[in-house]
Amino acid sequence: MKEIILLKTIILLSSISEVLTYHQSDYRVISEWYEFIPNVKYLQNFKYINFKYNRTFHALNASAYLKINVGNNVAFSTQAYKFSSNEYRLFPLQFDANLCVCLKEDTFGLQNVYNCGNAPRCPIVKGNYSMCNWQPDYNKFPPYMPTGRYRLDLNFTYFGDMICLAKWQLEITRDIVKFPKN
Ligand SMILES: *[C@@H]1O[C@H](CO)[C@@H](O)[C@H](O)[C@H]1NC(C)=O
Ligand SMILES: *[C@@H]1O[C@H](CO)[C@@H](O)[C@H](O)[C@H]1NC(C)=O
Ligand SMILES: *[C@@H]1O[C@H](CO)[C@@H](O)[C@H](O)[C@H]1NC(C)=O
Ligand SMILES: *[C@@H]1O[C@H](CO)[C@@H](O)[C@H](O)[C@H]1NC(C)=O
Repeated sequence: MKEIILLKTIILLSSISEVLTYHQSDYRVISEWYEFIPNVKYLQNFKYINFKYNRTFHALNASAYLKINVGNNVAFSTQAYKFSSNEYRLFPLQFDANLCVCLKEDTFGLQNVYNCGNAPRCPIVKGNYSMCNWQPDYNKFPPYMPTGRYRLDLNFTYFGDMICLAKWQLEITRDIVKFPKN
């Protein structure tokens, strides 16, 4: 019952795509792995590496040449899968958003992508881009996500045509709260 209410809350929160500004400190995210499937029609020389920056920071370096001007028209849809009984099963967290709107509003703390390298700025024109030592700002993720392992599939598109598919495996953990004994 509690889980159902939780899921409904998450669906509600994630459907409010115009107001995706959260602050949470209830759980921690451990990024496990990123995998990218680029469409060569849009991206050339796509290179990426996942690595452990330090104990808690699993970072990503990526670079590519973007072949066309995409302006403010990059959209992405996100679908979550939760690991249970040895497989990733569909999890009711789904939303669609526009990349430039998210960058402008700093949704999920995305603006931290400008801390290292040369990430695209909107409107996005063709050229060489890179990002380095990057991980999302987990404090700006939606609250109440149940503990567990997940995969998020992010499908980046340009007028319905896939630019790149990102598969991101992560774990949500919570510190065990210890109650003092009297
Ligand atoms: C890991 O690196 C990040 C970024 O420099 C830093 O904010 C964080 O405190 C570091 N964590 C540890 C455990 O050293
Ligand atoms: C993009 O980077 C590649 C590889 O470093 C280089 O060969 C190419 O000339 C660059 N293109 C532009 C337009 O800067
Ligand atoms: C990631 O990129 C930064 C900045 O270019 C570089 O210093 C670092 O060595 C790269 N890390 C890996 C693992 O390639
Ligand atoms: C990504 O979205 C496009 C446009 O909706 C769709 O054609 C494509 O099948 C999607 N790709 C994946 C892997 O979901």
